[in-house]
Amino acid sequence: MTTAIATAAGTRPWPGLIQAYRPHLPVSERTPIVTLHEGNTPLVPAPGLSRCIDPAGRVQVLLKFDGANPTGSFKDRGMTMAMSKALEEGKRAVVCASTGNTSASAAAYAARAGMQCVVLIPKGNIALGKLSQAMLYGAEVFEVEGNFDDCLRLVVEMGESLPVEIVNSINPYRIQGQKTAAFEIIDQLGGEPPDFQFMPVGNAGNITAYWLGYSEAAADGRVSRRPVMCGFQAAGANPIVRGAPVEKPETIATAIRIGNPASWKQAVAARDESGGIIEDVTDEEILEQYKWTARTEGLIAEPASLAGVAGLVKVAKRGFFEARLSGRSPSHPLRIVCILTGHGLKDPERAIKCATAPTTVPADLKEVAKRLRLG
Ligand code: F0G
Repeated sequence: MTTAIATAAGTRPWPGLIQAYRPHLPVSERTPIVTLHEGNTPLVPAPGLSRCIDPAGRVQVLLKFDGANPTGSFKDRGMTMAMSKALEEGKRAVVCASTGNTSASAAAYAARAGMQCVVLIPKGNIALGKLSQAMLYGAEVFEVEGNFDDCLRLVVEMGESLPVEIVNSINPYRIQGQKTAAFEIIDQLGGEPPDFQFMPVGNAGNITAYWLGYSEAAADGRVSRRPVMCGFQAAGANPIVRGAPVEKPETIATAIRIGNPASWKQAVAARDESGGIIEDVTDEEILEQYKWTARTEGLIAEPASLAGVAGLVKVAKRGFFEARLSGRSPSHPLRIVCILTGHGLKDPERAIKCATAPTTVPADLKEVAKRLRLG
């Protein structure tokens, strides 16, 4: 990850996203900044994926690797804002419902702020890395006998009756922090937005935040257009695609195993205002892309992140980009950004289930050589 910002005076260390984008965020001199120096994550060109989408080289796919944030997911962008504002407002305790990443991030930032953190997660359905994080950062972890939607309902009830601050994405400061990812992408593309953005959709806060970021940049005159937003749900947890809540959402992509997203309306608005789509991909498509991206691009993200990439491959196959490719060339390609929302190390169990198991060998060169598959 790049760790310095170029300024007229030279370079200085990356200060975290609130300091980097301060004029665009609702903070003042009185706001105590709770930061782990999140943000400034790499935007990595993906040549294999680009060739797969258009062998003629008229497409450039780039992967925004938000797994490089301090707790390994994009949630840190929203959490630095939510926690700073909670501290400014004198709150002592925060609470969230989570499929795992929000809880890991809330726990870390609460530790940093010296606040109590309570997290509610669906029992048996969160990746091991995320659970270990919340526990180690010192949160009070409740495994709820229910799904994420049940956890969120409980959290809203807790917010109404107990002295706790909710740090789910229904907290508007979360969206404010997360919108900075759009600013970063514009900066990293030399002041231009991408033509298309592909991303997973769960509780729908992130697509809402990106659209807000791109829209603010356009309103300020920093860019002259906004990308087409393309969101993907898992086929077993696809309420927006169906147009109705899913009572019992099911998918191996546990991060987006959500049946009734809180920011449903905002996600639909982002889709419609940008001329985009919200569709779904099967668990098989997600897992195939999970392995392919690791082996081809050398980046590992958790399964939910690959819903967006799998969606890109799927729509490209049906000719989605055809009309947009005329007039493009390898020196002036169509730019597509996919958001890798969480690090692959979050879910080691899934990796082990999907990939080739190691071979056990005696500590002897001949034996190792015998089993080698070189070339
Ligand atoms: N990708 C990852 C890795 C996530 O953890 C989430 C959401 C999403 C995508 C979807 O983002 O909800 O803004 O549409 N995780 C939440 C959590 C629900 O509790 O960690 P969204």
